[in-house]
Amino acid sequence: MRFLVTGGAGFIGSAFVRMLAKSTNAEIVNLDKLTYAGNLENLASLPAHVKHRFVHGDICDAKLVESTIEQLRPDVIVHFAAESHVDRSILSPDAFFETNLRGTLTLLEGARKLKVPRFLHVSTDEVYGSIEPPHEADENYPLRASSPYSASKAGSDLLALSYFVTYKLPVTVTRASNNYGPYQFPEKLIPLMISNAIEDKPLPIYGDGMQIRDWLYVDDHCRAIMAAIEKGGPGEIYNIGGSRALPNVDVVRKILAALDKPESLMQTVKDRPGHDRRYALSSEKLMRETGWRAEMPFEEGLKETIAWYRSNGDWVSRVKSGEYLHYYERNYGGRAV
Ligand code: NAD
Ligand code: DAU
Repeated sequence: MRFLVTGGAGFIGSAFVRMLAKSTNAEIVNLDKLTYAGNLENLASLPAHVKHRFVHGDICDAKLVESTIEQLRPDVIVHFAAESHVDRSILSPDAFFETNLRGTLTLLEGARKLKVPRFLHVSTDEVYGSIEPPHEADENYPLRASSPYSASKAGSDLLALSYFVTYKLPVTVTRASNNYGPYQFPEKLIPLMISNAIEDKPLPIYGDGMQIRDWLYVDDHCRAIMAAIEKGGPGEIYNIGGSRALPNVDVVRKILAALDKPESLMQTVKDRPGHDRRYALSSEKLMRETGWRAEMPFEEGLKETIAWYRSNGDWVSRVKSGEYLHYYERNYGGRAV
């Protein structure tokens, strides 16, 4: 098969490309703008024989998108490219509108004009907003996005689904919970806490730290996306959860314990504005229709992830330099309570 992957130099996109390279003979074209979150080092382990071509460019560039589709004639577009971090969307929402909405529209238009047979739009459980216990969201749950990030993702989901209804473009939408694993940019909770703890730096806990997230190992997510491509229906939405809901402080305590670091490194900081208290979703539909299951137990996945960050200190120090330091100061400066 021929895959056009967008955002394949980011955290989840690169894991998906590595998975395709390992388990298929697919021809892969990887379109990525290489923002602060894109990193070709994430693909350095691809064996030489893999049919992978990198295209450096923006998904908002209609000419580039169309020529890339025309050249490859993909069987499927797997659309990961996005601005993905909630805190950055609170600081500067513009890029979220551009990439997540304009970029998705540009890809959908390219796919429609050139009749791409399958379009997998990668989305998030954040579109459902905060969910009161004991409820969990199925795919029909109302969209109640809280942040500019989640609003832009909800908008892009609706755009993608409208292309199925209006133009019969065979679009499938997946909505996954919080991912973790190797190569994740250290702005998200788990890699930030691991890398700060390794360096004996404070671990910033937003508010009371009792917000709940459902953790999904990145390779389980990638397998779920393949299952949705192979066995899911066009026009359908599939939730992908990790079945491991934990309050943030429990996650951070597990990290500190694994690294043998003191809990005094945790530092309460002012809460995130509009902070969603709890995410909870049902993946029943995907499991029933495709047989997919999340396989990685959280404790084991966390152990592997910590080991990866420990032995990839060079990768971490390269990405934690330059722009990262400015972001860190903007997001965390003066926030201690
Ligand atoms: P990431 O921030 O690590 O990577 C995003 C990638 O997209 C980067 O390589 C970046 O260079 C590229 N990109 C950004 N703007 C672009 C543009 N205009 N044109 C081309 N490329 C561009 O993100 P991630 O965590 O790997 O998330 C991937 C997708 O999965 C996103 O759509 C995100 O909304 C979704 N998602 C993420 C999570 C999570 O926990 N990280 C969970 C559910 C869904
Ligand atoms: O649910 C899926 C979503 O998960 C994805 O769509 C997003 O791309 C991804 O960023 C993630 O969003 P969250 O906001 O849930 O993830 P984040 O890692 O930023 O934060 C997880 C929780 O940890 C959240 O309650 C905020 C808290 N947190 C986060 C950071 C970065 C802290 O307490 N301190 C921090 O420094």
